[in-house]
Amino acid sequence: MKLKYSYLIIFLFACTTVFSQQLKSPSGTLEMNFSLNEKGQPLYDLTLSGKAVILPSTLGLDLKDEDTDLKDGFEITNTETSSFDETWEPVWGEESKIRNHYNELAIELTQGSTRRKVILRFRAFDEGLGFRYEFPLQENMGYFVISEELTQFAMTGDHTAFWLPGDYDTQEYDYTTSRLSEIRGLMQGAITGIASQTPFSETGVQTSLMMKTRDGLYINLHEAALIDFPAMHLDLNDETMVFTSHLTPDAQGDKGYLYTPTSTPWRTIIAGESAGDILASRITYNLNEPSKIEDTSWIKPMKYVGVWWEMITGQSSWSYTNDFKAIKLGETDYESARPNGIHGATTENVKKYIDFAAEHGFDGVLVEGWNVGWEDWFGNSKDYVFDFLTPYPDFDLEGISAYAKEKGVQMVMHHETSSSTRNYERHMDEAYALMNEYGYPAVKSGYVGDMLPRGEHHYSQWMVNHYQYAFEKAAEYKIMVNAHEAVRPTGVARTWPNLIANESARGTEYQAFGGNKANHVTILPFTRQIGGPMDYTPGIFVMDVHNGSHVNSTIANQLGLYVTLYSPLQMAADYPENYDRYPDAFQFIKDVALDWEKSVYLEAEPGQYVTIARKAKETGEWFIGNSNGLMARTGDVSFDFLEAGKTYTAQIYADRSDAHFKDNPQVYAISEIEVTSDFVLKQFSAPGGGYAIRIIEK
Ligand code: NOJ
Ligand code: CA
Repeated sequence: MKLKYSYLIIFLFACTTVFSQQLKSPSGTLEMNFSLNEKGQPLYDLTLSGKAVILPSTLGLDLKDEDTDLKDGFEITNTETSSFDETWEPVWGEESKIRNHYNELAIELTQGSTRRKVILRFRAFDEGLGFRYEFPLQENMGYFVISEELTQFAMTGDHTAFWLPGDYDTQEYDYTTSRLSEIRGLMQGAITGIASQTPFSETGVQTSLMMKTRDGLYINLHEAALIDFPAMHLDLNDETMVFTSHLTPDAQGDKGYLYTPTSTPWRTIIAGESAGDILASRITYNLNEPSKIEDTSWIKPMKYVGVWWEMITGQSSWSYTNDFKAIKLGETDYESARPNGIHGATTENVKKYIDFAAEHGFDGVLVEGWNVGWEDWFGNSKDYVFDFLTPYPDFDLEGISAYAKEKGVQMVMHHETSSSTRNYERHMDEAYALMNEYGYPAVKSGYVGDMLPRGEHHYSQWMVNHYQYAFEKAAEYKIMVNAHEAVRPTGVARTWPNLIANESARGTEYQAFGGNKANHVTILPFTRQIGGPMDYTPGIFVMDVHNGSHVNSTIANQLGLYVTLYSPLQMAADYPENYDRYPDAFQFIKDVALDWEKSVYLEAEPGQYVTIARKAKETGEWFIGNSNGLMARTGDVSFDFLEAGKTYTAQIYADRSDAHFKDNPQVYAISEIEVTSDFVLKQFSAPGGGYAIRIIEK
């Protein structure tokens, strides 16, 4: 269907009545209404099965140095509708086939006074809406600078929200759960991370934002395909309960520098009657482009161990020596420096991890602190900090790679940029070529500290482009990327599947920096993971760590995370000797799969519990994970996802009845039972606990 409107008719429309057009999702459950009000201002609203999700909300953009912004005075000069239905196969994922099924409405708006054209493209899926602003190539609009995006998301009430302070540089916070009206009062107390900055407003929050309404509707706001644009935050008007987009500024305080033809990322609203509907949605991936990497055979899920937790807990160091306060790469003489005696990345220690990986069937070993520069690596706005090429004198790069190869283990590279991104870009080609030379298939990169160029933010347009440059460049070298502290993912891994994970949230490292809230992991699947997999680095078995911090989790909870926190890249983060203490529990980490044919969201309530079953792509085995929040709980889980008529053995790793994340985290029970598709599991989970199950067909 293609409708054309003449300027005259639209003029009459604008003066007399409000234009409106409806878009329904394929099954008709989700309904979006678009309208233009008498000021020529675009609005939309959204319902799910007749229940309001978004009340009428305006759309628009403020432009820098322009007399007229892009927010009103519009006429409709064309509308087009279409439908789309395809099933695609991700390189890795929670399921092997993803259906991308939507109805689309594209509305071409022309601004009367300036004759500038903007297309608003809406896609209605059964579980949510995506929309974006498109700026076609045109005579009256070339280069333009966005000073703010004015997209509104008008809530229907004072919902419960799982939120993080609006911050341009870090997401490494615990979530705060509160009513929307309570955000202002709780904002200062919510700023908990060691890397925290000042939030941009007393009611500003990050996406992906998860909410629940009083009548039990689940709503998630995020974005998809964040490319060449700043990341979007949300600023709440807590009198009207209307969120307005707030883009991350650049060093000048501007938002986005664009030129036509171009478009914004998709703004996404996922809605469901159950929390599991949010987890099952693939909207974020579906709104991204198909893979741009043709041969993806080198992209492989990976389970790894690493020289890492010992530094995070303060038992060893990234640096080699205490002799220097400041170093100049190329000039500082490491050969004659005195080793500090606690350097983690020594050849001997790394070989121990390689042996452990080989013995227990892990794919990879990550080593941090292998390269010179860690004596003074961040905090001083230093430009030339690492070269990503030169190993410390006690790290035998060549010998270690040969040893790993001999043992059938792959090495995982580490590039901490300390946010000196120009320095990283200067060295990138050589650094990736070095990885190719020594057979490193994956890199964990990092962006700790204040950004260089100074004044840029981790989530500003310039940085979004840097992360994109890094994984596109890595793809040229057939390298997989796991970027820490980078902008939160928005499904871009569909297009660049070598972006196998990100951190971009508060991970296990904070368990060694004072601890995470025990229900943190029951919120992450609804927030951070809406955009893509997280390198959460689970697997801690000894909860009182070297530096006195306590890991707020039970062992069974740690095991469940391998299923509930999906990632094709999974670490077993604890020390080898801690796994040797609990070999029976460790068995689950060895057995659990990384890549899935199917996922079933059995029961979920953000902040309280998440239980997911997944069928392994290669073996057909099923795995179940449960992450439990602060209250002890016994769930009821039906095994009707199993094939009827077949018998299976279920190996259950669960909390003992007296387990508790705080004072009794290491007690668990392992049992084996026979199950069929009729079975209903009644399984106890301790506070901060959980369970993990492997199900094998008999
Ligand atoms: C922060 C990362 O999240 C952590 O995993 C890493 O060890 C340090 N930066 C050092 O690069
Ligand atoms: Ca981090």
